Amino acid sequence: MTTQAAISIQQLNKSYQESGQQHAVFDDLQLDVKQGEFIVLLGRSGSGKSTFLNLISGIDPPDSGKVVINNIDITALSEHDRTLFRRHHIGFVFQSYNLIPTLTVAENLLLPLELIKRVSRKDHDHVEELLAKLKLSDRLDSYPDRLSGGEQQRVAIARALIHDPDVILADEPTGNLDLDTAEQVLELLDILVRKAGKTMIMATHSQEVIGKADRVLSIQNKALHTR
Ligand SMILES: Nc1ncnc2c1ncn2[C@@H]1O[C@H](COP(=O)(O)OP(=O)(O)O)[C@@H](O)[C@H]1O
Ligand SMILES: [Mg+2]
Repeated sequence: MTTQAAISIQQLNKSYQESGQQHAVFDDLQLDVKQGEFIVLLGRSGSGKSTFLNLISGIDPPDSGKVVINNIDITALSEHDRTLFRRHHIGFVFQSYNLIPTLTVAENLLLPLELIKRVSRKDHDHVEELLAKLKLSDRLDSYPDRLSGGEQQRVAIARALIHDPDVILADEPTGNLDLDTAEQVLELLDILVRKAGKTMIMATHSQEVIGKADRVLSIQNKALHTR
């Protein structure tokens, strides 16, 4: 079956086993996301935002149902093929940045490329260009622990974009930043993602970002609601 949606989620069910009890997080979740759409995902802590993003990225498999990205049913892939799919097609931004502390900024950015191909001179130029756009040119050879939280998150955004993925998933990307820094980071993410025509789903509590979204959804009672 083919669909026009960039991401199509069909009858998705997910539960966790906890002290011998089955605990449902999602019950028959349904969602179509258009190419280039920016979706903001709200929901109180524990409602399932991270679980939802992990299901879309294929980090976590569902109990049943489908996640179709670019007409590929990733839930039908083996774990190995899902990993390959993720490396090529998805960029992930985490709340805690998740940069590799023993690699410099430039090396952190080259890593996603090294995982999918032989890195060329052009790729090095691309890293430098992207860091310039993020006003981080002078931090190329710095290690992550030398950077402020806002700078680390800008590097993490560059890392999520470097391999030109189709889909960007962001899990509370400004959760550890002060308000001003958060606003700058969101502005950059919005500009870069929109300019490149990428599809983005962002879990956040930030009120500012809601105004930038094409659609605001919230997770309540194991289901998605449009706001
Ligand atoms: N690996 C796991 N094992 C057991 N329960 C989990 C696991 N991951 C998440 N959960 C549970 O699933 C629910 C949703 O969690 P999560 O997706 O982290 O919510 P949010 O990101 O909205 O705070 C919570 O009740 C949480 O305890
Ligand atoms: Mg979470």
